Amino acid sequence: MNQPLNVVKIEKSGNRFNAWDTDGVKRTSEITTVTRRKAFEGNYLLGEFVMKNGKHYWKKVSDIETAAPVDNTSSVDVPSDHAEVLNFIHTSYSLKPKGLMMTELKWKYLIRSAVRGKNIMMTGPAGCGKTMAAKSVVNSLDRPDYYFNLGATQDPRGTLIGNTHFDTEKGTYFSKSLFVEAIQTPGAVILLDELSRAHPDAWNILMTVLDYGQRYLRLDESDGQATIKVADGVTFVATANIGNEYTSTRVMDKALMDRFTIVEMDVLSEEDENSLLNYMFPNVDSTVLGNVAKIASLTRTESSSDTARLNSGISTRTTVELCGLLYDGFNLVEAAEVSIYPQYDATGGVDSERTFVKQIVQKFVDDGSSDDLFNEEEMAEAEDSNS
Ligand SMILES: Nc1ncnc2c1ncn2[C@@H]1O[C@H](COP(=O)(O)OP(=O)(O)OP(=O)(O)O)[C@@H](O)[C@H]1O
Ligand SMILES: [Mg+2]
Repeated sequence: MNQPLNVVKIEKSGNRFNAWDTDGVKRTSEITTVTRRKAFEGNYLLGEFVMKNGKHYWKKVSDIETAAPVDNTSSVDVPSDHAEVLNFIHTSYSLKPKGLMMTELKWKYLIRSAVRGKNIMMTGPAGCGKTMAAKSVVNSLDRPDYYFNLGATQDPRGTLIGNTHFDTEKGTYFSKSLFVEAIQTPGAVILLDELSRAHPDAWNILMTVLDYGQRYLRLDESDGQATIKVADGVTFVATANIGNEYTSTRVMDKALMDRFTIVEMDVLSEEDENSLLNYMFPNVDSTVLGNVAKIASLTRTESSSDTARLNSGISTRTTVELCGLLYDGFNLVEAAEVSIYPQYDATGGVDSERTFVKQIVQKFVDDGSSDDLFNEEEMAEAEDSNS
């Protein structure tokens, strides 16, 4: 069998499993959580291999006992001296994973905010890379990290504070949440994913935690210690779907928003979308990938125009999923039918959003002789980027 390109050892940090290669570089974001967890629990090393089709994958290479020690002395320690901080921020673009599309300025702003202990809020529409960027910045800093998905929890008090239990022997007792452990860990980076979808109770609980002047959590349910201080150097990174079409997103409280430094994720330009898709799917015909980028970009332009016939554009999450289908042998028409159309309302027949999107896709499937769906400007734009 071939030699692995890289070998990583898994270390547990907070509630996450981080992968460090032999050069001390963090490779966490390249390996699935399940693979990392299994390697940690099974106490073995993972190697990176390349399949015939060019895709990379990770699998067990050897048990820890028999392997050479992994040296991670060169991991990215966050510096404290000002000159060093400056240097760290301005060279940090190299820490950004290749598969994440984000401008250098936004990435550096994100790193800077994290290094400076700001509460960071990543905003942007659905599927534009907020969670991905937040996880990547957490991975880039060599600090204990914790992940909480607040959009997925039905029980904010249980998740953020803890639960009261009853036991016939012990009677009533209180068990603290993982979040309580997280905020007491000095230097921890705590990801609060989908904060905008969280229950308002969660926002209330977090209000004092996130306030730079307060920084404590009230344990109103436990007797004894009433509040818990947030440890020094703890950074919060939240994500929020703000100002978009999602109705499940509650309008976030202004006071809560004020406690964050906002980092807005950009929706990708056609060019960036195209490079991302080509980077991710080197084996799919790049003309087709280019068309996918154009389709997405046309829907985005349309949804933001004054006379919009669409509520939202096709997200990068969707284009990535669609190209995964192309890679698996579906054609563009089939892939669009299952991944794009269900997201658009079909009521109204020929005047529906779905019909409109279908027409856009159709334009890139046949010879482009479809009807005059686009106004002149859009046509010119599409033509320009076609040539
Ligand atoms: N800027 C980007 N760069 C690279 N990949 C991206 C980007 N945006 C989206 N993707 C792709 O879309 C997928 C979804 O992205 P992600 O989960 O970060 O979106 P999100 O903004 O958090 O969405 P939501 O609002 O639904 O939580 C990613 O796994 C990735 O494949
Ligand atoms: Mg997300």
